[in-house]
Amino acid sequence: MERDILIQEVLRLKAERQAVILAHSYQLPEVQEVADFVGDSLGLAREAQRTKAKVIVFAGVHFMAETAAILNPEKTVLLPDLEAGCSLADSIRPEDILAWKQDHPEGIVVAYVNTKAEVKALADVCVTSANAVEVVARLPKDRPIFFVPDMFLGAHVARVTGRKLDLFPGECHVHAGIREEHLKVLLEKHPGAEFMIHPECGCGSSCLFLKPDAKMLSTEGMVRYAKKAEAKEFVVATEVGILHRLSKEAPEKTFIPVKPDAICEYMKRVTLEKVYLSLKEMRHVIRVPEEVAKKAQRALEAMVAVG
Ligand code: 13P
Ligand code: SF4
Repeated sequence: MERDILIQEVLRLKAERQAVILAHSYQLPEVQEVADFVGDSLGLAREAQRTKAKVIVFAGVHFMAETAAILNPEKTVLLPDLEAGCSLADSIRPEDILAWKQDHPEGIVVAYVNTKAEVKALADVCVTSANAVEVVARLPKDRPIFFVPDMFLGAHVARVTGRKLDLFPGECHVHAGIREEHLKVLLEKHPGAEFMIHPECGCGSSCLFLKPDAKMLSTEGMVRYAKKAEAKEFVVATEVGILHRLSKEAPEKTFIPVKPDAICEYMKRVTLEKVYLSLKEMRHVIRVPEEVAKKAQRALEAMVAVG
């Protein structure tokens, strides 16, 4: 089908199904363009919770669709491609949490939203990159804390809050691959640029050493910051899908990716054609077993309430 017709069909089916399309900022530009809302994990979770639409087409990855289904159990949540997973969410199993809990019966488990529902069900609270610092800073000071699964985000939260955290050694393959050597090249080439770094990046602490005024931001935080900052040039360390939004929302500014091949193949599995098929055939419905969903819902509601 021709692209213009595909777009028209997506919009027609969206109205017919009383559906809403929620897209993450790493999605392909043409998918972002048909979405009703584009944002980071926190914004998407909140939008999924508040929408009045009957159907949510989630243009993102599996854990995001699961989060939407848990926060809004009355809605039908569709994920256009079931293979849209996440290497970080895959890095931790429920057994890892249970083992830590056995050794720390008084402990608090903080789960990054990039986890499967079964892991969230064992957590006390979930966080996203946008509110992890604020959530952890509010936790009681006399109890051990297990932060899972992203060790780079965990190290960032520990550094900013001054809290001692037990970190699980998980990572996102895309962000872990953004390293100090990539930054050094751009520091030399663009000495006047502002640096915006996603806290999942492997280069976080070395970046703050090399460029102490670098900003550690979620994807939405990057868009907000770029729009209001005075600088004209920004070096961006995260998945490159964000560049579409940055250039669209701050067209007068220049954005330079630290690593142009930092591409999440899971995010890119969702194409415009699959969004169309998802609406046409109502596939693939994301269901979370009730007993898992109920437990995970507590941790997710604590997450959406902060930040
Ligand atoms: P944000 O919540 O910052 O958009 O991050 C989501 C994600 O998957 C990062 O890899
Ligand atoms: Fe997961 Fe990394 Fe892809 Fe984000 S960029 S969805 S953390 S694999």
